[in-house]
Amino acid sequence: MRIILLGPPGAGKGTVSGKLKQHDNAAHISTGDILRNAVKAGTALGKEAKAYMDRGDLVPDSLIMGMVEERLKEPDCRIGFIFDGFPRTIPQAEMLDKLLAKLDIKLDAVINLDIPKQVVLDRLTTRRTCSNAACQAIYNVKSMPTKVEGICDKCGQPVIQRSDETEEAILNRLETYNRQTSPLIDYYDQKGMLRSIASLSSEDVVKEAIAALS
Ligand code: AP5
Repeated sequence: MRIILLGPPGAGKGTVSGKLKQHDNAAHISTGDILRNAVKAGTALGKEAKAYMDRGDLVPDSLIMGMVEERLKEPDCRIGFIFDGFPRTIPQAEMLDKLLAKLDIKLDAVINLDIPKQVVLDRLTTRRTCSNAACQAIYNVKSMPTKVEGICDKCGQPVIQRSDETEEAILNRLETYNRQTSPLIDYYDQKGMLRSIASLSSEDVVKEAIAALS
C-alpha cells in the first residue's frame, strides 16, 4: 500500500500505522518520529526543529521535504509506505505531488481519521511513548497500558510523556492542525483520493482502510 494517514494530533495515526504495517509490511514513515529521533541524537536538523515542536508549531516545510525525499528512496519503501503526519500543509502536499511524479510513484489513497476533539484531547493527555528512539511504541494509561507500569512491553525501556504534551502545546497543535493541515481534506477530496473513517476503534479503522484499499 502507498497511503497518507491524515487526522488531528491524537487521532491514532501512529497506532493505526503500526497495525497496517503488520498487514503488508509497508514502511511506516512518521515525520514526527524522524524529527524526535533527530532531536534526541542532537543533529543539526534536531536542534533546529526542537523549539517548533515543543511549542506545538509546525517545523518549516523546507526542512521536512529533504527529509521525506531521503526516506522515500530507502529500499523498504519499494514494498509500499504509510505516511503518518505528512503532508501537513498545502505546500507540502504540492511538493509531494511533484516528488512522487519525479520518482514515478502513485498514491493509492488518503485516509482521514475523523475523531471528535474531546476524544483527541483525552487521548493526548493520557498517552505514553517508549523513550527508546528505535522503538517509540505508543501506549495509553487508560486504553492501552503497559503490562508493567512505566516500562515498554516491547523493549523494556521507560515510557514517557512527550515534551509537546503540555496542555498549552496540545491546544496549539490542535489549532495549528485546524489552520494549516485540515485544508488537506478538501485538497485530496477534490482529487478523488480521500476516504474518511469515523470509527473510534483502531481495529475497525484498520479493517475499513484495508477494505477501501482493496
Ligand atoms: P507528530 O508526531 O506527527 O504528532 P501529531 O500529528 O500531533 O500526532 P500524534 O503523534 O500526537 O498522534 P497520533 O494521531 O499519531 O495518535 P497516536 O496513535 O499516538 O508530530 C509532532 C510534531 O512534529 C508536530 O507538532 C510538528 O512540530 C512536527 N512535525 C511532524 N511532522 C511534520 C510535518 N510534516 N511538517 C511540519 N512539522 C511536522 O494515539 C494517541 C493516543 O491515543 C495514544 O495514547 C494511543 O494509545 C491512544 N489511542 C489511539 N487509538 C486509540 C483508540 N482507537 N482507542 C483508544 N485509544 C487510542
